[in-house]
Amino acid sequence: MISIAIDGPAGAGKSTVARAAAQQLGYIYVDTGALYRSIGLYATAHEVPADSEERVSALLPDIKLELGYQNGEQRVFLNGYDVSEQIRTPEMSMAASKVSAIPEVRQFLFALQKNMAKEHNVVMDGRDIGTVVLPEAQVKIFLTATPEERAKRRHRELVEKGMEVSYESLLEEVKQRDYNDSHRAIAPLKQAEDAILLDTTHLTLEQSIEALLKIVKEKLKDVL
Ligand code: DC
Repeated sequence: MISIAIDGPAGAGKSTVARAAAQQLGYIYVDTGALYRSIGLYATAHEVPADSEERVSALLPDIKLELGYQNGEQRVFLNGYDVSEQIRTPEMSMAASKVSAIPEVRQFLFALQKNMAKEHNVVMDGRDIGTVVLPEAQVKIFLTATPEERAKRRHRELVEKGMEVSYESLLEEVKQRDYNDSHRAIAPLKQAEDAILLDTTHLTLEQSIEALLKIVKEKLKDVL
């Protein structure tokens, strides 16, 4: 099986680029952030604070997560319910960020992520895929862009949706999330030693996809 690990900070365009690459390669795209978001959702629905290690851990035996695919799109099922849309709110981004710092949560999701890669060729995106989940991945890419560029993209996205939000507050949020993700005690966001850095600051989406596929093809030439 072939595994392509894509890590990087929030807002670098990982999911869009990874999804497009998976489609072109005919691999399965695994968005691991959705798993952390689902646990955040379950905790919130049970009125458990997402940063309570003890109480969130106690919920884990009641949680069953499954990934499914519809027209190539990943769907995530929480105890049989499709929660793919519900997990996409800013509230769930925050809850996911909190539960992701709990070691028991990371442990709980480890096997699920591993099994996906055991059974399928995957493009898997997250924060610790190349470093912790799939250290044996044949291709590892660290996808990033400057905080200013990531905040600018997010701002454009929200303005297009008709929302009014200041660029400065988004930049602050991006920097805060970067800090949280890279300073937590367990599996912090960091570039794997053998990962290739892909900086998309000055690239369009199409150019980013193209650059990623070029790296993948170059790497797999030695493997296949
Ligand atoms: O990629 P995302 O925004 O959907 O991720 C939500 C949160 O989950 C993010 O704050 C970091 C965390 N996460 C993680 O710790 N490890 C992963 N492999 C994926 C996400």
